[in-house]
Amino acid sequence: MTAIFDAILPASVNDRLERLTDYPFTRLARLLADVTPSANVQPRVMSVGEPQHPPPAVIDETLHANRHLWGKYPPVNGTPELRAAITGWLGRRYGLPVGLIDADRDILPATGTREALFLLALAVVPRSKAGRTPAVLMPNPFYAVYEGAGLLAGADPVFLPATRETGFLPDLDALGPELLERTALVYLCSPSNPQGAAADRAYLARAIGLARRYGFVLAVDECYAEIWLDRPPVGALEVAAALPHDGHPLANLLVFHSLSKRSSAAGLRSGFVAGDPAVIATFSRVRSYSLTGMPLPVCAASAALWNDDAHVEENRALYRAKFEAAESALQGRFGYSRPDGGFFLWLDVGDGEAATRKLWAEGAIRVLPGAYLSRPVPGEPDPGAAFIRVALVQDPETVADACAALVRILD
Ligand SMILES: Cc1ncc(COP(=O)(O)O)c(C=O)c1O
Repeated sequence: MTAIFDAILPASVNDRLERLTDYPFTRLARLLADVTPSANVQPRVMSVGEPQHPPPAVIDETLHANRHLWGKYPPVNGTPELRAAITGWLGRRYGLPVGLIDADRDILPATGTREALFLLALAVVPRSKAGRTPAVLMPNPFYAVYEGAGLLAGADPVFLPATRETGFLPDLDALGPELLERTALVYLCSPSNPQGAAADRAYLARAIGLARRYGFVLAVDECYAEIWLDRPPVGALEVAAALPHDGHPLANLLVFHSLSKRSSAAGLRSGFVAGDPAVIATFSRVRSYSLTGMPLPVCAASAALWNDDAHVEENRALYRAKFEAAESALQGRFGYSRPDGGFFLWLDVGDGEAATRKLWAEGAIRVLPGAYLSRPVPGEPDPGAAFIRVALVQDPETVADACAALVRILD
């Protein structure tokens, strides 16, 4: 049997998969497979960005109240109530002009931001651009899904250094016309995972301008937009609203949002994409085949969450307390500086993989080596290799304890 299959199928079923690096958590499991944490220490998992705060009770209540709808196939674009709740939240959060967002044409609920970020590349990457293989640009380090999406859509991923020197965001002025002409899609993340840097108005305006000039889709991943420390990060939609344009005010732009972080509900799989109606229409067509639609009870629970800001305020206060605990343990060590948003520490420990093994062995603290979120670019240092990413997702006591232990072990 195997011999027959070997003869029919090439060595790899899909040669695009061969270029795909293993997912960061697969690599982490391999790195730590032979490391046994010291006895009598409760493991503290700070590798995954999975909020551990109790999800709001309204989720259960709404799912229960809508249980008669589990038997129905989900609509591709969610429900009018959900799209209205999202439009209302976008208006409150970003002070958007009334009428900027058309709830029916500009919004697509998604079963998690990840799904939408991934599928987008299939929808918008052409076979060639400017006569060459299209490029998909992303920050380096980056959320792993961007690379997988670009590669599996047949594009060349291009990694743009996002280091302390560039303010932890890609330097847009360093991009030459040759690259921009063949660029089909640019992923930006603000506040960024892993470094927590938020783009300002001028930066986002420049990115939108480039997208329009060179005809690519700008995908701004804002899934940490509600987890901020001192001031709410500006959003790409509000920047677009204030820009002059000769077509649609949201042309070439999509933003991505999630309830996973905002409402500590990663298991609900609920987010949305909003922006350029032409791109949303193409995206909806792709999804009408994959039908990664959102079940109707989940649409109802999601609408209830987007309609409520009080639980988000409480959530944010918890993260703030945890950053304060981390800061008093770190005292500025490992190049720490307070991020604009998100819930990660991005610490320069010299050798991220070695530190990760040591923390697991000596403190049962599980973190992620920065190198698993970055790619080496020829002629440049790997921007993640010296770092670890520490997710402040556990309760404040666990975070305070783990940060104190981290300092003892690595200092
Ligand atoms: C930068 C970034 N984008 C998107 C996501 C995916 O979020 P969701 O749970 O909505 O799929 C994550 C999750 O960790 C993330 O860190």
